[in-house]
Amino acid sequence: MSLDLDAIRADFPILSRKVSGGKDLVYLDNAATTQKPQSVIDAMTHYYEQSNANVHRAVHTLAAEATEQYESARDTLADWFGTTRDNLIFTSGTTEAINLVAWGWARSNLNTGDAVVITEMEHHADIVPWQLLAEEKGIEIRVVPIDTESDTLDMEIFSASLPGSRLVCVVHTSNVLGVANPVAEIISQSHDCGAKVLIDAAQAAPHEKIDFTAMGADFVAISGHKMCGPTGIGCLLATSESIEEMEPFMSGGDMIETVTMEKSTFATGPQKFEAGTPKIAEAIGFAAAAEYLSKLDMKVVHSHIRGLATYTASELQSVPGITVYGDHSVPEGSGVVSFLHDSIHAEDLARFMDAGGFAMRTGHHCAQPLLDAYGVTSTNRVSFYLYNTKAEAAAFIEHLRYIVGKFA
Ligand SMILES: Cc1ncc(COP(=O)(O)O)c(C=O)c1O
Repeated sequence: MSLDLDAIRADFPILSRKVSGGKDLVYLDNAATTQKPQSVIDAMTHYYEQSNANVHRAVHTLAAEATEQYESARDTLADWFGTTRDNLIFTSGTTEAINLVAWGWARSNLNTGDAVVITEMEHHADIVPWQLLAEEKGIEIRVVPIDTESDTLDMEIFSASLPGSRLVCVVHTSNVLGVANPVAEIISQSHDCGAKVLIDAAQAAPHEKIDFTAMGADFVAISGHKMCGPTGIGCLLATSESIEEMEPFMSGGDMIETVTMEKSTFATGPQKFEAGTPKIAEAIGFAAAAEYLSKLDMKVVHSHIRGLATYTASELQSVPGITVYGDHSVPEGSGVVSFLHDSIHAEDLARFMDAGGFAMRTGHHCAQPLLDAYGVTSTNRVSFYLYNTKAEAAAFIEHLRYIVGKFA
């Protein structure tokens, strides 16, 4: 079975844009953010045109509609992620979701000397909060290195890091290498040692159906904008036990039960962690994105995206001067391919490619320790999504060969 790419592409208005003086846009920066289908844009516009009001407050018609649409977005997303509405906290994205675990759970449950295990493959969003918390609470951070020969985590050091640890934080799929980690094994070993597990699923949720219950992690962090949804919205999936153990990270309106000038009591469940006017249109757009993806077979989506990455990585091998990072020979993994030319600066190369209509990313990808492990400070990165075609991947390689040829 394959995807009806013509029909899918027609759902994304931006894909028919011309850039760089009339060139067809070939958008290959999907790991940074994906494009949005018309149904997501329409859902948000419809909310603003017809139902815009604040939620959980007034009794008038618009307020009731806004509340209903916001809360039913939670139902739709909980269903999509294999959990219940009581286990889905809206956040601004993966970064806020991880910070919520750091400041909402770890700050009140970990003490001096307790250890948190992270890996060298993490995005800065899953490194910096732990460093700040370590400074404040005196917790120990144990870092699992990457084996740069196999592009995988060193699982022997991982296992050796577990005894005595209280929390294990691991990226599901690397935003630099496209490599997927052995999440089931990581969760099982961590739980056997009595540690909770936080999975950063920012790069996995766009092309794999995350089933929170089946996965068995304690926390999963997700960004809506990387899976066809709007920016500014994501979620933290958390077990009921973990939510019970969490303290508010932000406070104010909407998260309270009662407030007097002396003290306040808090709402229970996700609402306790959603202070202030929430991201209403964004939640509605996020749910529309899940509805869009639910019409597709995610296994087919995954193999399409991964197939484009595998093809591109293998073609890149024959472009003079190019080094490819990550193992793209395995079916697991994402649509991300990082590479570097030995003499053309990554940023220059990205500009030359942009002039041909190809949007690709350059830089450290918010994963400086991982790049350090490979001895580089930046890479070029293309990342495919469900609307990209083999013809686009082939055109990308052809244009790259042309650019590289000019410097030969
Ligand atoms: C693996 C990973 N984790 C976390 C993040 C942060 O996501 P956001 O900026 O949506 O909060 C990203 C974004 O690129 C990512 O790729």
